[in-house]
This record gives sequence, C-alpha cells and structure tokens, in this order.
Amino acid sequence: MPPAQESPCPSRCADPTGRAAALRAELTRLGHAYYVLDAPRVPDADYDTLFQELQALEAAYPELRTPDSPTQRVGGAPLPQFAPVRHAVPMLSIQTETDTTPQGAMAFDQRVRNKLALGADDAPVSYNAELKFDGLAINLRYEHGTLVLAATRGDGETGEDVTQNVRTIRSVPLQLQTDHPPAVLEVRGEVLMKRADFERYNERQRANGLPTLVNPRNGAAGSIRQLDPTVAAQRPLAFYAYGWGEIVGWTHQPDTQHAMLDALSAMGLPVAEQRVHGHGAATLVSFHARIATERDNLPFDIDGVVYKVDRLALQAELGFRNREPVWAVAHKYPAQERSTRVLAIDIQVGRTGKLTPVAKLEPVFVGGVTVTNATLHNEDEVRRKDVRVGDTVVVRRAGDVIPEVVSVMLEQRPAAAGDAFDLYRQLGGGCPVCGSAIVREAGQADWRCTGGLFCSAQRKQAILHYASRRAMDIEGLGEKLVEQLVDGGVVKVLPDLYRLGLLKLSALDRMADKSASNLLGALQASKLTTLPRFVYALGIGQVGEATAKELARHFGSLDALMDASLEQLQAVPDVGPVVAQSIRTFFDQPHNREVVEQLRACGVHWDEFSPAAAAAPKPLAGTVFVLTGTLPTMDRDAAKACIEAAGGKVVGSVSKKTDFVVAGAEAGSKLAKALELGVRVIDQQGLLALLGDQGGLDT
Ligand code: IVH
Repeated sequence: MPPAQESPCPSRCADPTGRAAALRAELTRLGHAYYVLDAPRVPDADYDTLFQELQALEAAYPELRTPDSPTQRVGGAPLPQFAPVRHAVPMLSIQTETDTTPQGAMAFDQRVRNKLALGADDAPVSYNAELKFDGLAINLRYEHGTLVLAATRGDGETGEDVTQNVRTIRSVPLQLQTDHPPAVLEVRGEVLMKRADFERYNERQRANGLPTLVNPRNGAAGSIRQLDPTVAAQRPLAFYAYGWGEIVGWTHQPDTQHAMLDALSAMGLPVAEQRVHGHGAATLVSFHARIATERDNLPFDIDGVVYKVDRLALQAELGFRNREPVWAVAHKYPAQERSTRVLAIDIQVGRTGKLTPVAKLEPVFVGGVTVTNATLHNEDEVRRKDVRVGDTVVVRRAGDVIPEVVSVMLEQRPAAAGDAFDLYRQLGGGCPVCGSAIVREAGQADWRCTGGLFCSAQRKQAILHYASRRAMDIEGLGEKLVEQLVDGGVVKVLPDLYRLGLLKLSALDRMADKSASNLLGALQASKLTTLPRFVYALGIGQVGEATAKELARHFGSLDALMDASLEQLQAVPDVGPVVAQSIRTFFDQPHNREVVEQLRACGVHWDEFSPAAAAAPKPLAGTVFVLTGTLPTMDRDAAKACIEAAGGKVVGSVSKKTDFVVAGAEAGSKLAKALELGVRVIDQQGLLALLGDQGGLDT
C-alpha cells in the first residue's frame, strides 16, 4: 500500500471508492496486528499516514464512511481470554494535531476561544499541558481507597479485566494514601515500559536465546495482556496517571485539571513531573518546545504532548464532539521512525580508517528532515539485523543523532534481495578508497583500512576534524571544499591549508572571490589557538576533547607532551594504557612530528605559559544563540553577558546558523522560527547547564 505522499491528493483521487476500500482493508490488517497480536507490521507514522488519508477521503466523500471503517472506532476489540469490563464512563480518545509547528498549539487555542465565544480582548484561557505517554491506557478503580479493578480501554465502552497483571506494577498503589478516600475513584493513565528496562529485558532475552520485544510500547501492552501474571511480573512496567473516570463522594474535589493531578499525586499515584499550567497559547507553545529538547532524555517514550483546558467547569461547557473532547488535543512531534527501502550498502572510511557500513536509502522524511543515509554501525550489527539490499527497513532519527536502521521488515523482503552482508567479500579485501589492505583485529568490532594518511578518505576526515568548530574552528572549510582540495592534490598534509592563496582557491569550482577571502581570513584567525584545541585538532586516536584538555593542563606545553613517556602519560587523569600508547605511537611517527613542526612554522601558536587560559578554553566558543521571551531569573543582559563570557555569540534573529534558541515565558515568533528550522530550543536551566558544563556540548 503506497503511503499518501506518493498518491494523488485524496480529495481529488481518481477512484475514491476503491482507494477507501483498500485503505480500510490495509488499516484493519495493520490494526489487528498492532492491537490484538501486539506485533506491529509497520512504524506508527506509516499507519498514521494511511489513517489520515482515509480520514481525508471520508471527509471529502461522507458516503464512503462505513460503520466498520477503522476511523469509526476508538480502539481494539477485547481479547476473549480476559473477562470483559464495561466502563462506568467511556474511555475516549483525543484528537491529534499533526501540524508539529507552534501553529498546531495556536490552532487549538483558537478553536477553544471560538467555541467559548471569546473575543481578541478577552482574557487568555488557562491550560494544563502534559506528556502524551506512549503505552497502554488503563482504568484503575478504587472503592473506598482500595484498588478493586484494573481494565484496559478495549473499544472504549468495554475493556478487559487485567487486575492481576496491573497489581504486579509496583508504582500502582493498592491503597490510596488518604484518610478520606472517595467512595469511588477511577484513575486513568498509561502503563508503559521505561527504555532502560526495555533494553535490559531484551539483553537478558537475547543472552538466553529468547524472543525480544519490538519496542517499549509493545513490551507494555504484551505484558499487561499476558495471561500468566507471574510472567507479567517479570517485565518491569510503570504507570502514570493523567485523568479519571467515575468519581463518587469526593468531598472538596479540585476544580482544575492541574489540581486534580496534584491531588492524585498526593494520594500516592504516579503523575509525571513534566507538566505545566498557565495562560494562553504561549504556555502550550513553550511546553511543546521544552519537551522537544527533553524528549530524548526522558526515561520513557512519548508520543507528543497533550493540552487540556484547565478549569473542569470549562471542560464540561466545551464537551465532546465525535466522541472526542473539544477541551483537549494531542500535539505531536515529527515522527522519529519511518519505513523505507535499502538501495545499497556502502562502506565509508572514517578519520582513523574505521570502515562503517552505511545504508543508502530511498529518501524518507523522518525526525523533521529527509534522510537518505543511515548508519549500520559495524559488520556484526548488519548481520544481527540481517539487513540486505532491497529490504524494507525501519529508520529512526531521534534528536540530533545520526539516523540508524532499527530493524528489517522481513515479511516484505523481495525474492531478489541481496545476500547476507559480508564486508570483506564486498570490498574484495581492500579499502574502497585507497585499496590498502583491510583488517579486523581479534576482539574488535570494526574493520579498518591500513592506509593511514596515504588513504585520501582518511586525509579528508583528518582535515575536516582539524577544521571543526571545537578544534581549530575554521569556518567555511566544509566537506565539499575539502573534497576538492584533496582530490585536486592541492592539500596533501595539514600545513598545506596555510599555504593556500586567493588564486588557488578562486580557481576551485563554485568558489567565489568573497568566500575565498573569507576562508583565508578564517585560516588566518585559526592560527591563534589554545593548546587543548590544538592537541584535539591533531586527531590522535582515543584523544577526544576532554582528554586533550587534561593533557594540556597536565603538561603545560606541546613539547613536554610530545616527549612524555608512557608512564608520565598515564599519570594524567583518565589516561589509561590504551590512550597512553596511542599518544606515544602518534608522536613516535616522524611524519606526525613533521606536521606539528610545519604547522608551527606556518604561524599556528598559543600561549603555553598561561595554563589557566589553556585549561579553561571558552566552552561556548563559536556557538550562536538567540534569546527570546522572559527567563525566570536572568534578565536579557545577564544572559547575554554569561554567554559572551563563555565565548558564545548572541544575535537578534533565528537562522539555520543559530545553534540554540533560549526561550522563556511568552516566547513568540523566534521560537516558532526555531522549531520550523529545527534549531535546538533550551530554557534557562538548559543554558545554565551549557555554561556550567564545559564538556557538555555535543556540537
Ligand atoms: S486524556 C477524554 N492525557 O492517549 C480524554 N490521554 O487518544 C482522555 N494518553 O489512549 C485522554 N497521555 O491513554 C490523555 N496526558 C494524557 C495522555 C493520554 C497518553 C493516551 C490515552 C489514550 C490516548 C488518547
């Protein structure tokens, strides 16, 4: 079934009846696999795309909306094995806002305001913003403070009695912690598996040769629906409350969403810390932005955020439409997983000769960008996942990390798929760039090219590393240019960079006079550096930025470092035998010493006699910030001064060159722009972390 993006606009589809029937059948098949069998066949975003296409088609042609359409029901049918439970109050779902920009939040606020007949001059509506947990919805029924029943959502009207399994979740209180429990209190929330627990569980299963879980959500759903509660108990689950069902006899029941959650928390129910309440769309926009930056660090997966009108009286006034609350909406983030096809498996050569298999993909939009390459890490990993050319694979791009192939959809493997991956055979034993022999040493996961700097791929990577921001910070010396310089034989060794002139540069492809002179300026400026940056820039194996700082601090001068014995090197914090050997080997090679001497001769210098300056290089050097909104405790000038003192730059408008937008309350269009461009958004706390943690930047 082709996704919507490849088919014509649904409302102008050539055969709407046929397309709707095909979509219904496909969604029913996928839905059964997902909800009933807990064995999803495609990434969620693919399912959503088809679902939205059907919704659009049914909106354009209402006569196509059949009662059995997957758009017409809330969830999956209850499994026959569990006793059915009729919900006292139906468990409904919420509308999803798929416009992942701040406009999505603003549109919700506008809908609420319109519905309440509020004009532009009326006060902002109060909202509560929460996480949208990505697990399994559960209703916990407490009678006089005791847990008596736990049920899944089922089809929204009737769920399954899973009390025995839910009891095994340690964070679900069996008794409410209150002296005056309501006669009936139904707590609604989500059961999920934390990522670390998921990984640990899978590791154990793998070690025992047992089947693994596909993802944490299926782990949670599968465990809750496990017929044997002792098996369920072995799978660590968590529960977070976000709402309620039937309530009888709660004196002094709170009258807002946020106070209700506080009250549930006070009774001992787990409620996630990540929630805010405040006025108007700005509260929603900044919560969405904040969670976007925190998302990858949360202990569990989320599916987006949820906005709810805070006052319960207003919720009641707004009511429901199409079995969905008008007072709530789920606001998504760009999908982090999509499926696509593997066109080829290439092998890339890294700076130290490491050979990395990379899947060349049919372009796919995931995590907010179009992805055409995904790392496969190493040979063992390709074999473990059994990725082959022609396969349909799930690709994941989360946050800023390099896209990776998560898994192969084996059932879609074509008969003509390639053979099992064999790196040595594919390369015929030679480096794909320079032809030198490749080796994989015992106990090592990686194959390597033995060509060293003879290999132009390693040379290019070495130059790019030297020029990178946290090393010598030579702006304008990017991948394309380095490629030309190395392939054209203009730059053979690092010092050649400083021998470039305007004439040589302007002669290169696509190099205007202006960019050539900018580059020469950047090269000139890079000559004044610090010892830690220079040591890091040399690209010595095992010597990252933090180690380079320690070495500079310890030895104080480059000559002392170059002549240090293994023993002396190991006296440096964090330098063990492997790192010490790597440093020694590097400086024992005459051509490396020669490179260092030539660089110095070209004018590269630093202040060796100011260890304090060397030890504390500016942590934010070269990093560009935009400030917007009001920060809780720092005013704009203070924030600017701190950033500048740490070597960063503050500019007025957001562009692709911005590294961070620091957003406070009432942040507006700059925040919107940042989200649109995928610029990282942080709050005051995030900024303080950057300022305090010198090594913490992964840019
Ligand atoms: S409120 C009547 N809040 O999302 C509104 N639901 O489509 C009831 N979910 O399966 C839902 N986090 O289990 C609400 N903070 C949250 C949520 C949340 C996750 C799930 C819920 C349901 C689906 C709603």
